[in-house]
Amino acid sequence: MARLAVVTGGTRGIGEAICFALKDAGCNVIATYAGNDEAAKLFTERSGVPTYKFDVGDFDACQETVRQIENDLGSIEILINNAGITRDGTMHKMTFEQWDQVIQTNLASCFNMCRAVIDGMRERNFGRIVNIGSINGQAGQYGQVNYAAAKSGIHGFTKALAQEGAAKNITVNAIAPGYIATEMVRAVPENVLEKIVAKIPVGRLGEADEIARGVVFLASDDAGFITGSTLSINGGQHMY
Ligand code: CAA
Repeated sequence: MARLAVVTGGTRGIGEAICFALKDAGCNVIATYAGNDEAAKLFTERSGVPTYKFDVGDFDACQETVRQIENDLGSIEILINNAGITRDGTMHKMTFEQWDQVIQTNLASCFNMCRAVIDGMRERNFGRIVNIGSINGQAGQYGQVNYAAAKSGIHGFTKALAQEGAAKNITVNAIAPGYIATEMVRAVPENVLEKIVAKIPVGRLGEADEIARGVVFLASDDAGFITGSTLSINGGQHMY
């Protein structure tokens, strides 16, 4: 039977590509999103993938919506923690809100969603969790203490949960994308982005599909011996 996969932040950018790729690989896919109804509607029209709207930074909303999804469609076997935002700014200009929004959406969301699915995965003795980290969580980035801290946290979270899940056939891995051609990266000032691209050995931004193909592999039954690992997909920009 097709496995049920949930992709947070699945209606746009890398998340959208992950939804399409998991669907092509034969999964039943659900996308979650927080705010952009229009993008979600267009996404469902294009993909046929249903969406659920809630804030992944809200613990209670995650527990309630996961219960709802499981009532509607069955057990969640694959969870892709992809939802993420940027609120860039240097430390001396960053507000508490910019710090907190990024920590809640990018890092606390991983706890909130994993906590909601972990009991079921343990009972069924199967699970695949893939967390989307970042090159900037590995290497740091000027203007991103919030984002780098959250993404770095994801990498530690992944290794700890991988140890807990291993005996129950639940694998937990991370992907660390480099600079991918999405709205998030296009929002970086042009002169700054040019300098970043100049430092990518492959000589270009990545494509969302190039991340999605890595996710599909880590989420597959074939990847059962891979857990606690981070797959860097960054065109050689940072070799970790
Ligand atoms: N290293 C050292 N110095 C830097 C620097 C860097 N990487 N970037 C900027 N500076 C310097 C500038 O040269 C400038 O110095 P001078 O005043 O002496 O010329 C000073 O810092 C201020 O720079 P800005 O004018 O850019 O300052 P700002 O306050 O207007 O903006 C910023 C700061 C918001 C951080 C802006 O530089 C920016 O947006 N940078 C991009 C941050 C980034 O890479 N974000 C990634 C988003 S995509 C993503 O996160 C996805 C992923 O996972 C990869």
